[in-house]
Amino acid sequence: MGQIVKIIQLKGVSKSFGDRRVLDSLDLDVYSGETLVIIGRSGVGKSTILKHIAGLLPADQGEIWVEGLEVGRLKEREMNELRKKMGVVFQYAALFDSLTVFENVAFRLLRDFKMVEDKARAWVKEKLELVGLRGDLLDLKPAQLSGGMRKRVGLARAIAVDPEIILYDEPTSGLDPVSSEAINDLIVDMQKKLRVTSVVVTHDMHSAYKVANRIAMIYDGKIIGIGTPDEIKNSQDPYIRQFVTGSVEGPMPVR
Ligand SMILES: Nc1ncnc2c1ncn2[C@@H]1O[C@H](COP(=O)(O)OP(=O)(O)O)[C@@H](O)[C@H]1O
Ligand SMILES: [Mg+2]
Repeated sequence: MGQIVKIIQLKGVSKSFGDRRVLDSLDLDVYSGETLVIIGRSGVGKSTILKHIAGLLPADQGEIWVEGLEVGRLKEREMNELRKKMGVVFQYAALFDSLTVFENVAFRLLRDFKMVEDKARAWVKEKLELVGLRGDLLDLKPAQLSGGMRKRVGLARAIAVDPEIILYDEPTSGLDPVSSEAINDLIVDMQKKLRVTSVVVTHDMHSAYKVANRIAMIYDGKIIGIGTPDEIKNSQDPYIRQFVTGSVEGPMPVR
């Protein structure tokens, strides 16, 4: 991985919705070139963390640094420049149903990068092939694709801009085991082929172990444990143990 550089840093980030404090002075570092997986139960704030990194939600308190820039202090134009370095794979693929595969994947290339259409078509074909889809799907609509294919199109859209950072929100949710495994392989592949830094949010432990260099567990607004997959697997923390072993009897142990 070469020199260790913190490419994303959350420092004391707090966020409340109404009177519910979702992030509570949360600290998190993501190193250049790694795949960091954030795990935790539904509703603990995993997507909220990604939205803060992508500059889609402002923090109430604390700082978010991405590639040496403090996100909360950027002007809109500067934030747009930073966003060009990020690809986001949203939960449920979030494709535009009325647009073709080409128009979905090329959306930011045409709008933000002003790429001409001929070049964009060749470019999109190449990205589709990289995620294991045939280039001749270009003119189909999302409704004509399976769930696994739509996830791949979502991934092709995220990598279309040649990002340095990819944020994945529940990339395997709603997929059958075979399609999930294919997406896990792709996440590993993207790290190797594109040398990107990735943050993956999931509650699927199988996927977490498969793709992660490090795993961070969020509970009660904070990161309560972070380490390699082996360290998390062997953690003595009762919360982490209960989550990773998937035991669902009874309430979470009291900390
Ligand atoms: N824009 C919002 N407005 C109000 N509440 C929100 C908003 N976004 C998230 N929440 C609440 O914050 C909590 C954490 O949400 P989220 O980050 O989506 O959790 P996760 O991704 O871990 O399932 C949930 O209780 C959710 O209802
Ligand atoms: Mg979520």
